Amino acid sequence: MSEQGSREQGLVIVGAQWGDEGKGKLVDLYAEQADVVVRYQGGTNAGHTLVVHGVKTVLHLIPSGILHPGKRCVIGNGCVVDPVALVAEMDELVAAGVDVSPARLCISHAAPAILDVHKRLDRAREGAAGDARIGTTGRGIGPAYEDAVSRHGVRLGDLADPQRLRQRVEGLLFEKNALLAAYGQAPVTAADILDPLEAVRDRIVPYLADAGAELAARRKAGERLLFEGAQGALLDVWHGTYPFVTSSSTVAANAAVGSGLGPQAIGRVLGVTKAYATRVGSGPFPTELDDAVGARIREVGREFGATTGRPRRCGWLDLPALRYAARINGLTSLALMKLDVLQGFETLKVCTEYTWRGRTYEEMPTEPAAWSELVPVYAELPGFDADLRAARRPDDLPATARAFVDRIAAWTGLPIELVSVGPGRDENVVP
Ligand code: IMP
Repeated sequence: MSEQGSREQGLVIVGAQWGDEGKGKLVDLYAEQADVVVRYQGGTNAGHTLVVHGVKTVLHLIPSGILHPGKRCVIGNGCVVDPVALVAEMDELVAAGVDVSPARLCISHAAPAILDVHKRLDRAREGAAGDARIGTTGRGIGPAYEDAVSRHGVRLGDLADPQRLRQRVEGLLFEKNALLAAYGQAPVTAADILDPLEAVRDRIVPYLADAGAELAARRKAGERLLFEGAQGALLDVWHGTYPFVTSSSTVAANAAVGSGLGPQAIGRVLGVTKAYATRVGSGPFPTELDDAVGARIREVGREFGATTGRPRRCGWLDLPALRYAARINGLTSLALMKLDVLQGFETLKVCTEYTWRGRTYEEMPTEPAAWSELVPVYAELPGFDADLRAARRPDDLPATARAFVDRIAAWTGLPIELVSVGPGRDENVVP
């Protein structure tokens, strides 16, 4: 391995399921060996939970590297930023004694802004959709990305220029009010959108930067970049279980696009998966357990949304979905999270393939008609009944837990570089 490679210049950490895999914990852990942590997509729909020295912190937009003093954190152009929510998150961190000054954090001028009207529209649409609702987080993510792509959007950089900001906002009103009216909602005025932005403008402007240029310069100087994915592969707008997806591309290639760098910036891609599967919101979930086993996983794994508090749907680990995630992300290794949650089951199931209309699938098919009809084929493995939380080396694990990990590595063809056995930063088994 070259000197540059061994310094791991560009590690991307991505969710390999439907989000909530434990990326926050992992990014916090790997941030130790990075110089810069970059968020490149998503917004405050994310909820990255970190437990450091027994204290729990939930981050929605600020990169999980912020808890490591001295690490640079960057919110890239691919993120949608709610300026009001961002300031609230900054204030919470400051109250907890974390340095969130512009010396630690910068935000791309080009990041699309989430405006109050985007949140209103997100909720109005979901409210009107009935059974067809996506189950969004209601944070305005979809409408903000729509405006970015339709070229009507406001960008964070516009906050620095009040006149331009006003023009951009006024340019939005015609279509937004037509849409709100269609949903039976009251119209918004420019002031409704501008007032909250103006209230936080002076807090945000000092953080604005050409994030891509800064990252390129740091990369050239040999600094190590860690890209923090949000949501998961199956929620990707192009590759996920559309339309039950988020509105950004969650796969590793977007780490480059969403931070203003070329693909060479990506060295290695670590996929994060739980030892079982969860999904929050609507949409296909082939291994879902609508029974006592699912309820037990939810209870023991505390599977309730970090952003919305919603109970997560739970099921067995789904290898065809994981193999698909490995392909669309170019995963080079896996981290297996929350193995401790499976303690006490006599047998554990893992879906190894699906059948659909007489065919067998080792990878999740992309035909939309298949998703709700896939029949999972399960392998049964012996469970384990020991408390795993003190385990740090593979030998500390019961033989059946070790065998479970080894089988997942064999079934996916990917090395497992870390097994998480508890929420704490140090509760991991590393080979
Ligand atoms: P949106 O991203 O708020 O538009 O929601 C679209 C879909 O993505 C819904 O099913 C959400 O529950 C899901 N989603 C969005 N962010 C997350 C996340 O961070 N974890 C898990 N699911 C998420």
